[in-house]
Amino acid sequence: MTDARIIDGKVYSQNVRDSVAAEVAELKAKHGLTPGLAVVLVGEDAASQIYVRNKGKQTEECGMLSVTRRLPADTAQGDLVAIVKALNADPAIHGILVQLPLPDHLDSNEVIAAIDPAKDVDGLHVVNAGLLANGQPALTPCTPLGSMIMLKETLGDLRGLNALVIGRSNLVGKPIAQLLLQADCTVTIAHSRSRDLPALCRQADILVAAVGRPEMVRGDWVKPGATVIDVGINRVPSRDPVAAAEGKTRVVGDVAFDEAKAVAGAITPVPGGVGLMTVACLLQNTVTAAKRQAGL
Ligand code: GUN
Repeated sequence: MTDARIIDGKVYSQNVRDSVAAEVAELKAKHGLTPGLAVVLVGEDAASQIYVRNKGKQTEECGMLSVTRRLPADTAQGDLVAIVKALNADPAIHGILVQLPLPDHLDSNEVIAAIDPAKDVDGLHVVNAGLLANGQPALTPCTPLGSMIMLKETLGDLRGLNALVIGRSNLVGKPIAQLLLQADCTVTIAHSRSRDLPALCRQADILVAAVGRPEMVRGDWVKPGATVIDVGINRVPSRDPVAAAEGKTRVVGDVAFDEAKAVAGAITPVPGGVGLMTVACLLQNTVTAAKRQAGL
C-alpha cells in the first residue's frame, strides 16, 4: 500500500490567511473598519509565550490591530477579570483571547465567562458553546474549525462517515464532535475511560486525536485508508541521546506518525498540520466578530 497523503497545514493555513488579509483590506477601504484582536497572557509558560508572539505577528501581517497584554504569574483573579471587562468595552478590540492554561490559582471558567460572547474568538463562552450545540451561528473554537477545513478539502462530502474523536475538552474534543455531527458524520467521542480504544479507532473513517499523549495512537489502530487529524502538540526528548541529555526536545503529535502514515489514506503532520490552522482560524474568527459587531 502507498503511504498516506500528507495534509499540509502550511498550504491550507496560507489560503485562510490570504482570504483574511483580502477581507481586512476590503473592510478598511469600504467601511473604515480595522478588526482588532487582544491576546491576554498570564505568566511565563514557555510554549504559551511562543504561541502568543506568533498570534500577534500573524494578526499584524493580515492588516489587523494586535494588542498583547502580558501579566505577571501572580495576577489576581479580580484584576484579570477587570482587564477582560476593559477589553469588552474597548471599541477598537473585536476579539479577545485569554491564553490557556492559566496559572493554577486562577479560575479559567470565571475568566471566560467575563468575555463578551460577541468578542469570544476562542468560542469558549457557554453562549457560543450552546449556540454551536444548537446548530446556530456561533464563534467556534479555532482548532476544530481548522480541522474541519482540512477534512472537507481532503474528503469533500463527509456525510455518513464514521468519525471518532479521542478527547472531550471544551477547546477541541466537544466542539469538533459538534461540527462533525453538523456535517452528517456518525460521531463517537472516546476518552481516557473508553474501553478498547484500538477497536473503536479501527472503525473510524475519520480519526481525530486530541488527547495530549505523545504518539498514543499506533499504526495498527488506524483503519486502512482513514483520514487522520492529529491535534496533539507534545514535547518529548530529542531522538539524539546526546541532545536529549542536554535537554533538547522535539514536537510530536498524539499519533505515531510514521506508523499511521503507512496505513491511513491521509494524515496531518506534527508540526506543520493542525497547529498552523488554529492561528489562521483565530484571525478568521476575529474578522467574523468584527463584521458582526459592525452590523455587516
Ligand atoms: N492554548 C493552547 N491552544 C489554545 C487556544 O486555542 N486558545 C487558548 N485560549 N489557549 C490555548
